[in-house]
Amino acid sequence: MPLSDFPRHPLTFGPSPIHRMDRLTAHLGGATVWAKREDCNSALAYGGNKTRKLEYLVPEALAQGADTLVSIGGYQSNHTRQVAAVAAHLGLKCVLVQEKWVDWPDSVNDRVGNIMLSRLMGAEVRLDSAGFDIGFRDSWKQAIADVEARGGTPYAIPAGASDHRLGGLGFAGWADEVAAQEEALGVFFDTVVVCTVTGSTHAGMIAGFAAQERERRVIGIDASATLAKTRDQVDRIARRTADLIGLGRDLRDDEITVLEGWAGDLYGIPVDSTLEAMRLTAQLEGVILDPVYEGKSMAGLVDLVSSGEIPRESNVLYAHLGGQPALNAYSALFTTSVRARAL
Ligand SMILES: Cc1ncc(COP(=O)(O)O)c(C=O)c1O
Repeated sequence: MPLSDFPRHPLTFGPSPIHRMDRLTAHLGGATVWAKREDCNSALAYGGNKTRKLEYLVPEALAQGADTLVSIGGYQSNHTRQVAAVAAHLGLKCVLVQEKWVDWPDSVNDRVGNIMLSRLMGAEVRLDSAGFDIGFRDSWKQAIADVEARGGTPYAIPAGASDHRLGGLGFAGWADEVAAQEEALGVFFDTVVVCTVTGSTHAGMIAGFAAQERERRVIGIDASATLAKTRDQVDRIARRTADLIGLGRDLRDDEITVLEGWAGDLYGIPVDSTLEAMRLTAQLEGVILDPVYEGKSMAGLVDLVSSGEIPRESNVLYAHLGGQPALNAYSALFTTSVRARAL
């Protein structure tokens, strides 16, 4: 059935803004770089990519009479912070399992940034020592069972709202939104660059763009450092979403591209190229990226544009998916002001 027939509960302001990044473009000396800003899309706790995905899950939660949203992520999960915000906004309860996905030495890693905001919004936060994994977890199943045992009605949202039947719809809609904004701007974004970890942001885009007449490249930059799992998940969710919105054909393998090379060895640990991309974007544009996701996808964009792999005549759209609150948990990286090396 067409995307417009799926119930959607608006949680965003409307289309997220698109703007040019002129100084970054001039610095890289290649394709024209634009950004579409999921970090400026909602009134709810700084927004971000999960807010858009949750718009399609909320109607189901409400229809099922749920009184508690139950989800999972790392200590500094942006996703769980957005789930907590949506629960507060709807007057629902919220239980969050927060695992130690990143072994990061900052002493307040489990207290500041996203997790602090979730606590502030009244979520029940359960710390768990398990490491990084995007799959279904016993701790999450336990949390769901606990809500039931105390007489509540849980609505289960997996990590990143990704491996959920409706998880890809939000970003299939993003693709339609881009097409409408292109008309207004008089530009065609032949290349989209997006960070991918739990997969449904990238997968939704692939399914949404596949329905459009003009082809473009949707390049996922892996930030999970568990490439095979992420690629698998993107593939599965893209095909499921394409089917759900009635694409009417199978996706081709070449429509599903996840590139590695910028994640480093571990999820959540920034590497040199991450910090350089964060500094470049901050110092040339005043645009803030985080060290877990967006710094890594921007590092990919910087290399692909400067090497000419994305051609000079391209208009490349960088999907800025939010995530800045996590910066607070990485304060030790920024105790002095350091100029980007390339400037
Ligand atoms: C800021 C940010 N960027 C990118 C991603 C990756 O999105 P996805 O998990 O849908 O692949 C996430 C969430 O995981 C995120 O919070």
